[in-house]
Amino acid sequence: MAKRKKRNVIVGQSGGPTAAINSSLAGVYRTAKDRGYNTVYGMLHGIQGFLEGRFIDLSDHIKTGLDAELLKRTPSAYLGTCRYKLPDIYENKEMYEQIFETLDKLEIDCFIYIGGNDSMDTIKKLSDYGIVTGSEIRFVGCPKTIDNDLALTDHTPGYGSAAKYIGTSVKEIIRDGWSLETPTGQITIIEIMGRDAGWLTGSSALSKGEDCDGPDAIYLPEIDFDIDTFVEHCRDLLKKKSSIVITVSEGIHDANGTYISEMGNRIEYIDAFGHKQLTGTARYLCEIVSEKIGCKTRAIELSTLQRAASHCASRVDILEAYEVGGAAMMAADEGDSGKMVVINRLSDDPYQAGTEVKDVHKIANDERLVPRNWITKDGTYVTNRFITYVKPLIQGDVAPIVVDGIPRHLYVPGYQELL
Ligand code: F6P
Repeated sequence: MAKRKKRNVIVGQSGGPTAAINSSLAGVYRTAKDRGYNTVYGMLHGIQGFLEGRFIDLSDHIKTGLDAELLKRTPSAYLGTCRYKLPDIYENKEMYEQIFETLDKLEIDCFIYIGGNDSMDTIKKLSDYGIVTGSEIRFVGCPKTIDNDLALTDHTPGYGSAAKYIGTSVKEIIRDGWSLETPTGQITIIEIMGRDAGWLTGSSALSKGEDCDGPDAIYLPEIDFDIDTFVEHCRDLLKKKSSIVITVSEGIHDANGTYISEMGNRIEYIDAFGHKQLTGTARYLCEIVSEKIGCKTRAIELSTLQRAASHCASRVDILEAYEVGGAAMMAADEGDSGKMVVINRLSDDPYQAGTEVKDVHKIANDERLVPRNWITKDGTYVTNRFITYVKPLIQGDVAPIVVDGIPRHLYVPGYQELL
């Protein structure tokens, strides 16, 4: 039988950026080239930009080995990202016709989408439409999210680097708290991303070691939050120490499901997937603690820093992100469609892991939360099992390529204006 002629590939990034998402992009590009594909297109701002006809030829950007190394060390989504929900096929068949027409025009064989659970919805819908219409294009998902909440995979690229940054920063904040004696005592509340899953907030426990006690309490969104109980907890902690550091998830909520962040701010922004913007939890809790206890408080929102901190990236994470990008490309090349690459952990110590592909229908729109037995009984800390799980993912460093004392990122003159 004649060998199929390989044509082109298109890759997109979607959802929240991470410090590792560009390493996956580099992995997709390298593998596509190694496997003999011609052009590797990059969608600008994911499927949303693609619908507007916005894409680039990645070989104009990755010309040398140094470019690829810089890309791996560049935070944010190089191609730009989006939070865009494709309509159901029956709601807007014309949109799918338009997408497939453009893909055919570009002679695309493989469509790779790097994203989280909402983004896998795009792979699911496109691959379903492809089956119905008999298209030969393969649609494969490449996992990514700092939230680490994707189903069926041991963890997601991006999580390890964010966890390393959180463990490091929380440790530095705890140390800072030791330095100044405050007559009233001080409570520092650190707000960490992760929406409904506490994987990131739990990783603040990584600060604990011989030279640091770790945070005094950790509040995850998996457990209903009660403000009065929280204030009493703060009061008790202050009796023992003068500087208390508590980490809270941006997504903590009361028993009715109302986010604590909603109680304290008037930000009403809601994205295409119906997610409210969560911010201001630490600030609100500090106001309450200050009013009820009268001590000094400080609110710290790690916000964008925790997902953009390439200078503190985990080597394990960056290398895995690259491999997972390559595995997604390989799977598509070998005929898989409607699948996402997952990471299977083989052992914690030494850490060993491998990849396989799983049906994206079982992953899209689902959320994997921290298991209840990885959280202490009183719901205010994570167990050793949690720490054993996350520790291998933060190992090693990726030295930034430093120019004039500041890490250098991949930069192509004029490109930024396209985004
Ligand atoms: O999806 C990843 C994530 O970082 C969440 O942890 C967080 O809730 C959300 O993105 C914030 O997104 P944005 O930057 O769009 O407000």
